[in-house]
Amino acid sequence: MKTLVVYDSLYGNTAQVAEAIGAAIAGESQVLRIGEAKPSELGSFDLVIVGAPTQGGRATDAMRAFLSRVSALEGAKVAVFDTRLRARWVKVFGYAAGKIAARMKSLGATLVAEPEGFIVEGKKGPLADGELERAAVWAKSL
Ligand SMILES: Cc1cc2nc3c(=O)[nH]c(=O)nc-3n(C[C@H](O)[C@H](O)[C@H](O)COP(=O)(O)O)c2cc1C
Repeated sequence: MKTLVVYDSLYGNTAQVAEAIGAAIAGESQVLRIGEAKPSELGSFDLVIVGAPTQGGRATDAMRAFLSRVSALEGAKVAVFDTRLRARWVKVFGYAAGKIAARMKSLGATLVAEPEGFIVEGKKGPLADGELERAAVWAKSL
């Protein structure tokens, strides 16, 4: 199985989760920051995993710009994650993963798992204890 993990990250936490997922997943994997990935190449992988920090209740501007350049994903298998704060009040704005998942579905992709969120303790991190291990378990379940 050939997997692409494509992510954005401002402070490095989402990057760490992306690397943990890439290392844990079965088969061949490539982990690319969005600036290194081409929107047109997503369709050539068996599984595409997209991850972004939640900012203002959605994915970063750069990730949204990247996804707006992906034109079709008919039949592609996709999983989505974000990083997010634990605080309850942010819940009302929503999170990046669900919104990215909706975009992927609208392009014809099949979601192979529910959108997942990994917790950071503050805006700049760090990741909460155990989140990298949970990311690895999540990756193996896909
Ligand atoms: C401008 C800005 C807006 C944010 N808005 C939210 C938010 O709406 N909900 C949330 O859970 N976290 C929010 N956060 C916290 C980010 O989710 C956190 O910075 C991110 O997970 C860290 O990942 P990174 O190190 O990969 O950038 C925000 C952070 C920034 C900088």
